[in-house]
Amino acid sequence: MTARVDAAFAKNLPKVELHAHLTGSITPQCLHEIWTQKKSGDPSMTLQDPLEAMSKDKVWDIMTFFPLFSKYIYELCSTPASIVYSINAVLRDFKEDGVVYLELRTTPRSSSSMSKDDYIATILSCIDDFPHRNVMTTYLILSIDRRNIPEEAMEVVDLAIQYQSRGIVGVDLCGDPSKGDISTFKEAFHKAKLYGLKITLHFAEVPASSSLLELKTLLSFRPDRLGHVVHVPDKIKAQIKASKLGLELCVSCNVQARLIEGGVADHHFMSWIKTGCPVILCTDDVGIFDSTLSNEYLLVAQAFNLSRDDLIDLCDQAVEAIFGDRHEKQRLCALVKEARENRMPID
Ligand code: IMP
Ligand code: ZN
Repeated sequence: MTARVDAAFAKNLPKVELHAHLTGSITPQCLHEIWTQKKSGDPSMTLQDPLEAMSKDKVWDIMTFFPLFSKYIYELCSTPASIVYSINAVLRDFKEDGVVYLELRTTPRSSSSMSKDDYIATILSCIDDFPHRNVMTTYLILSIDRRNIPEEAMEVVDLAIQYQSRGIVGVDLCGDPSKGDISTFKEAFHKAKLYGLKITLHFAEVPASSSLLELKTLLSFRPDRLGHVVHVPDKIKAQIKASKLGLELCVSCNVQARLIEGGVADHHFMSWIKTGCPVILCTDDVGIFDSTLSNEYLLVAQAFNLSRDDLIDLCDQAVEAIFGDRHEKQRLCALVKEARENRMPID
């Protein structure tokens, strides 16, 4: 028997974050600072202040959520300087929340002042220069957007291969689940696999992206992990269980974006825990959903009556599913072991 879980305990856990979109992880405050800077250089700029556009009382759904990126945040963060400013803030925020290992994902994009290559090179330089690399190691995953044409998807994979030796560990499929034809990405994911990149896929987020045909096609890409796994038919569930795929569960995102009905206690977290697949709690877009990774641990502990040991077990499962190498696994296993030894007994 150990003491109850509280915010301080959750923060001190050696947490691994495996599903965080870079642009969605920028806080409204950081975006506000970028906005202020931009506005002072161009007072005629019409973009709304992020503190209003992304205020806490905003209700997100699939119709409002995706345009927030394409029509708003990308406009604000379109220069190398704004990318550097925001990624440094994102890295600091995760580190301050007690994250010890981070796999950040992002969709390569270009603007009038940078190419996709510049975008990725800039992010990798910031990761290299992050002053707390000994406390939190960071790797990058490149995302294919569901709206991409096959050539764009292949470009993402080629960029991932080009920068693989600098810390790109995998390729993701993300974007509006009501859009795109995922069968056109077969070749791109095949090439990624061929070059030793790991694969993670947004999977069964909404009913429209959960047909048996779509889910079977996605599994044919031979993913190593899956994100969300909300609307999964039993037949596919059995396949996922047999392959022991790592499952990235984003509880606050699913509740707030109404991908599930009800609250945290209604989340499919427990049903996946029972399958024995590694379950990894993740934030998805902490800048939008305003729930840090330590808060996600706290929320599930409260909703499902989990103990300190249960949460340490969750940290352990996350380590199992990382795309980093065995040295990273060893480092993280030692941190989890230390947390287990130091967990406070009941007094
Ligand atoms: P970026 O890839 O760093 O630009 O992060 C923002 C992008 O992540 C968005 O344009 C979406 O394509 C993707 N994204 C963020 N959250 C979700 C989600 O919950 N489901 C699917 N895609 C997402
Ligand atoms: Zn996501």
